[in-house]
Amino acid sequence: MKNNNEWGSNLAFILAMIGSAVGLGNIWRYPYVLYSNGGGAFYIPYIIAILVLAIPFTILEYGVGYNFKSSFTKAIIKINPKLEYFGWILPVAVFIMTIYYSTIIGWDGIYFFLSFFKGWGANPNAFLTNTVLHPTDSLGGIFHFLPFVAISMLVGWFIIWLVSHKNLDDGLGKVCKIFVPILFITMIIIVLFSLTLPGAIIGLKELFEPDLSLLWDFNIWLAAFGQIFFSLSLGIGAGFTYASYTKKDIDLITSGLYVVIANSLFENFAALGIFSVLGYMSLQSGTPIPNIVSEGVTLIFVIYPQVFNILGVISLILAPLFFFTVYVAGITSMLSAFEVLSISIQNKFNMSRKKATTILVIVGALTSMIYATSCGEYILTITDSFINNFVIILCVIIECILFAWVFKAERLINFLNSKSQSLKLGKWWLILIKYIIPILLCIIWIGGINKLIATATNEYLLVIAILVAILLICSLIFTLLKPKSENWFKTEERIK
Ligand code: ALA
Repeated sequence: MKNNNEWGSNLAFILAMIGSAVGLGNIWRYPYVLYSNGGGAFYIPYIIAILVLAIPFTILEYGVGYNFKSSFTKAIIKINPKLEYFGWILPVAVFIMTIYYSTIIGWDGIYFFLSFFKGWGANPNAFLTNTVLHPTDSLGGIFHFLPFVAISMLVGWFIIWLVSHKNLDDGLGKVCKIFVPILFITMIIIVLFSLTLPGAIIGLKELFEPDLSLLWDFNIWLAAFGQIFFSLSLGIGAGFTYASYTKKDIDLITSGLYVVIANSLFENFAALGIFSVLGYMSLQSGTPIPNIVSEGVTLIFVIYPQVFNILGVISLILAPLFFFTVYVAGITSMLSAFEVLSISIQNKFNMSRKKATTILVIVGALTSMIYATSCGEYILTITDSFINNFVIILCVIIECILFAWVFKAERLINFLNSKSQSLKLGKWWLILIKYIIPILLCIIWIGGINKLIATATNEYLLVIAILVAILLICSLIFTLLKPKSENWFKTEERIK
């Protein structure tokens, strides 16, 4: 009989994981992180972060998820029934992340629509500010509702519902099998075209010019670890959840390697494309690259439209292709984050996938409307840095302790090695997940807290206090509600 919560094939799992990893972080975050942290020199901390953090932790998440074949929360209860509260904190935090992620997808949706006729006009900067975002740098803009952003965000939520409410393989599996390869193909087309633009080489030289002196700067190490974290969706329970849906014959180590490699290839390829375009822009406008380059919102919604404006007729194909690529990358990542809380709710309240996803989409869509206001971008920046720099990192430290120490990760080694066609785990893996990763993350976490205390304004702290309250109260409610499933406290383990 077909299992409603099992991938139809191992390929579906790998593509879904690549879809989860490759997201907005690869396209609009990575190129700027690479450029502003030493250019070519950044590859040293970046590769170390992949070897020390990404690969070992990915394997740990997959292994534990596979073993429990259940939601993150249920697995935590099996590890220690007293920890149910923590078992909800991570999924709820990831749901908060899903909500703000939907905003960026919403902005991109607007630009996808506009791209068919360059609807941003001759001055994309003014258009973004005056027509789309109406940004305010304080909570004062909360009553200024932005209907177009809201509609576009609701379309994104509707797509999430369309995919997630179906049985796993008919929804998520099918979508990832079709759209993840498309994502790579469209990106390749865009990048190859960008490389042929006059001036592309100027951008690439600027990007890769190594500034080796920066290697002594702690911040570039932080940037590399932070990027790898976000970009690979590490520690948000997505890898855990997707791996729990795999079949028995899966080679989790090799699958993890494929995901890490595909994700890095994608983001480095994206960086080539983006800096070629910036080089072209620099040549056309006579402005040096450091004065053009920017992060996130400005890069995607101002600089790219400016480039499309001067590119001529080809941009009528390229612009929709570009915003479509960003959209697909965003949706496939959002789907994986959405799944984490959804499956915990399905498990505890014995709810069908359809019912749980419908309720969560409604709650998520309504809550996300707070971002469809003039202070949306402001709150988003705070939420993003808080959830990623504090909550998720803290959760990963706890996950390392629970999975590696309490559950005893040694139990996974024989099974994982027996299936692996590539890397074999040994003592080195245990040292990394038991000591190196948690210690490194503690250092990063404390560094982040110090920086926050030194720089945060009162309003910033107020937003964080509200977020913490929401996170703790919602997790408590989920913990206290009575389970409707008899199996809530009984979880089978696949690895004996
Ligand atoms: N991994 C996802 C991204 O890069 C969250 O955007």
